[in-house]
Amino acid sequence: MPIQYDQKEQVFMLQTPKTSYVLGVYEGKYLLHLYYGKRIERYAAMQHRLPTHGINGFSATDVEESKYSTNVLPMEFPCYGSADYRSPAFHAEYEDGSAVTKLFYQGYHIESGKKPLCGLPATYAENELEAETLEITLKDAVTGLVVVLSYTVFNSFDAIAKSVRVQNGGDQTINIKSLLSSTSYLFDKDYEFVHLAGAWARERHIQKQPLQNSTILIDSKRVSSSHMHSPFMALARPYTTETQGDVYGCSLIYSGNFIARAETSELDTVRLSIGINPFGFGWCLNPGEEFQAPEAVLVYAANGFGEMSRTYHKLYRTRLCRGKFRDAERPVLINNWEATYFDFNEEKILDIAKSAKKLGMELLVLDDGWFGKRDSDNCSLGDWVTDRRKLPDGIDGLAKKVTALGMQFGLWFEPECISEDSDLYRAHPDWAIQIPGRQPNRSRYQLILDMGREDVRDYLYERMTAILDSANIEYVKWDMNRHISDVYSAVLPKERQGEASHRYMLGLYDLLERLVSRYPDLLLEGCSGGGGRFDLGMLYYSPQIWCSDDTDAVERLSVQYGTSFCYPISAVGSHVSAVPNHQTGRITPVETRGTVAMAGSFGYELDLNLLSDGEKEEVKEQIKTFKKYYNLTHEGEYYRLTNPMENRLYAAWEFVSQDQSEALVHGMQILAQPSGPSIHIPVRGLKADAMYEVNGELVRSGRALMHGGLNFPRQTGDFKAVEFYLKEVK
Ligand code: GLA
Repeated sequence: MPIQYDQKEQVFMLQTPKTSYVLGVYEGKYLLHLYYGKRIERYAAMQHRLPTHGINGFSATDVEESKYSTNVLPMEFPCYGSADYRSPAFHAEYEDGSAVTKLFYQGYHIESGKKPLCGLPATYAENELEAETLEITLKDAVTGLVVVLSYTVFNSFDAIAKSVRVQNGGDQTINIKSLLSSTSYLFDKDYEFVHLAGAWARERHIQKQPLQNSTILIDSKRVSSSHMHSPFMALARPYTTETQGDVYGCSLIYSGNFIARAETSELDTVRLSIGINPFGFGWCLNPGEEFQAPEAVLVYAANGFGEMSRTYHKLYRTRLCRGKFRDAERPVLINNWEATYFDFNEEKILDIAKSAKKLGMELLVLDDGWFGKRDSDNCSLGDWVTDRRKLPDGIDGLAKKVTALGMQFGLWFEPECISEDSDLYRAHPDWAIQIPGRQPNRSRYQLILDMGREDVRDYLYERMTAILDSANIEYVKWDMNRHISDVYSAVLPKERQGEASHRYMLGLYDLLERLVSRYPDLLLEGCSGGGGRFDLGMLYYSPQIWCSDDTDAVERLSVQYGTSFCYPISAVGSHVSAVPNHQTGRITPVETRGTVAMAGSFGYELDLNLLSDGEKEEVKEQIKTFKKYYNLTHEGEYYRLTNPMENRLYAAWEFVSQDQSEALVHGMQILAQPSGPSIHIPVRGLKADAMYEVNGELVRSGRALMHGGLNFPRQTGDFKAVEFYLKEVK
């Protein structure tokens, strides 16, 4: 039983294979977070978690009998307005203008399995035996507000999935201003705040900073998870490495405005919170209504960042991703974007498809520019009708010709956006997010459709299904090329405008759900100006996401390194592109570009006719290699062997099969060095006592390879690829 309740002590123990999460009901009223960390078998009295000073300095006490102020207690679901002055998980205003909520424990319920979250993406259990869920109910006696906290414990993952449901059980409208998905605690502040920061084409670079008596937060106010921050944070002991040290990971399954925060109190306890960003948020909850907050997933690892990442990878790859391509092998694709941009016609596309087929590629993706009269990025978004000037036989005609070559066919859409120069905008200007009487802010010349509107979603569903039904389309790239400003919805009354951003997300998820249900075999790839919406919300619908518009192999080392802290390798859309690279101007060998792109869902994005014969041969071999190692790279355990943010001389990473009988080490000599010292890369995850053949030759024990390391070849020239294949010899 992964969830146990000790009636006498009023303590809930949530047990994963290697971790425990413990909650207690203090004085029969307050739900406290007592422990999270390495698995413990018993948790007796909760007294030792209560601070020495019950009421320190200027704290207030909200209950006469209580020795403790809530300001010093590890409140599992802290509310604004009472004696707890730290940042709350919940803040609401009531009809009399007051904003105090006091939630007391009511009861609990444990059941097998895991229910879906209404309208929101979430992890799932495939059957009732895989997981157990605890629901704890809290209630505010004055207003009738009921809060249900939900905790799912998976039998085979060291992860806890948390979410919150709020029910208005009273008779007045409740104006919710903030509702976060998870609050948890560290009981001292000797930790570093680790997060993924970036920019367009430089996404998810790892950053670390020590905690002090202050608040560190990352967030998004862009109605998109964004290139700038990712809905993920980790708190790690200083000097934590890939293999050692305590790490607490916290991620949110949501694609909109989020906040992830570590707040250190005057008593040095740290409150960790994650959820929808309260900034600009509001929700009017009428009597009898419910609000479901997104799911947060917590992972504790005792053995460093690597262990945390591998838990996230496996959970999200197998119990967040869905559909045929969760498990089925993904096709090697060729995308025409960097080969042609908007300048193509049917002949050019077929030419690319023919060359791609000869080299072993399997799927032709037609990117932006096939609809309306889109010869540049300043028009036609919303007009999802084939441009017959470029494609005289339509999408169906092109798809038939591509299929006849023995290739699959895929298509780009940017459903959420609208150009002012479009028939759609001329017919429905009010469908675009903008404030009447104000000039809207444009980005890439475009506006955004209000996905919170049913009529907008119905239009998009009708247009997309008309095209998808008309041709054999096996892949869709779902792009979104700007962030949202001028947040407003023409269909919401004044008092509900704070709901617009979250309603946008709910609408987007609703449309995606309708499409994936109708086309369960369709491979969807998420995208947002590269990796601007590389998040777990989108991963629920699209098992791969374009990781970055920066395809330069050297820059990708850092992007893919940071991305791998939380997101599985199979999710990372990664392509070999042309040199000089279109984003950085750097020239790297095609072999190296291939090696880096293989740490992801692999493809090509360049004019194949510009490759030399030698490079074409190289590409053919690369595709064979990728397919040979597909199971290792997509289903194996991933190990980061070096940190490219710190080591600018060489990089290495490794995939190990689940049974540890095979491993693939890939790497790059970044910069060449004369008289450079020898480099030994200790590999990881092998069976210590087994013998492994390295590149079909040298046989060494797992222990020797893990301690002595592999000899990294020094070569002349920059950006040289390195590969070692290790196979157990029996
Ligand atoms: C975004 C994507 C690119 C490409 C273009 C098309 O920038 O990230 O891959 O699809 O849009 O406009």
